[in-house]
Amino acid sequence: MGAITINDAYPWGRSFDEYRRMFSLTNEDLQRRIIGCADGPAAFNAQMHRRGRRVVSCDPLYAFSAAEIRARIDETAPKLVALAREAADRFVWDRIASPEEMGRIRCAAMDEFLADYDAGRRDGRYVERSLPELGFADDAFDLALCSHFLLLYSDELSFDFHRDGVIEMCRVAREARIFPLLDMHGERSRHLPGLLDALRSAGLHANAERVDYEFQRGGDEMLRVWR
Ligand SMILES: C[S@@+](CC[C@H](N)C(=O)[O-])C[C@H]1O[C@@H](n2cnc3c(N)ncnc32)[C@H](O)[C@@H]1O
Repeated sequence: MGAITINDAYPWGRSFDEYRRMFSLTNEDLQRRIIGCADGPAAFNAQMHRRGRRVVSCDPLYAFSAAEIRARIDETAPKLVALAREAADRFVWDRIASPEEMGRIRCAAMDEFLADYDAGRRDGRYVERSLPELGFADDAFDLALCSHFLLLYSDELSFDFHRDGVIEMCRVAREARIFPLLDMHGERSRHLPGLLDALRSAGLHANAERVDYEFQRGGDEMLRVWR
């Protein structure tokens, strides 16, 4: 994936509660130094800030202003709700009851992000950085999270990108968690078996683990990688 322009981006942000469940985050985890990779317009960082914790989010989206991101959200959100309606059988409609409710939850999360964005950018909490090179010092963080980017975009992102990206996450943090294991078609990522082998060959521990979150049907596992 090259440098993104605002017209490539479909900003779509998840809530704090979704992050907590997707990554099985315990209260102890929330005390750790966390970096969010590909956090986009998710509300996790903003909510953590309100709780007095500092998270650093990295995403090429942060090259854009709040007004540019807001305009892009307003343009794309109705399309993403329509797409979910068309592919409704690929999702589990329990905690989120309908595509319309999904739209409301995502938009509320993105509003929370946008309200925090300018201050967070000035404070170095939203940084324009792109995997597979994060550019932070070794061990600058304890835990690196990546939601709905690696593995999900397996058609667009190569195997090497995945391997280098996860190894980079484990360089800047002792542990990395990636959710989901599914690609855009709802199939387990074709990169996953080779990725597990490559990570273990690089001396890392890597396991798929069940989590208490399923929205994409069958997407209830995260990849945990640690040194
Ligand atoms: C589907 S969104 C996920 C947002 C958020 N993590 C969530 O789950 O709500 C995917 C994000 O990946 C970001 N992205 C694209 N290329 C990237 C790269 N090379 N490194 C990090 N993030 C990237 C996009 O800008 C977008 O914000």
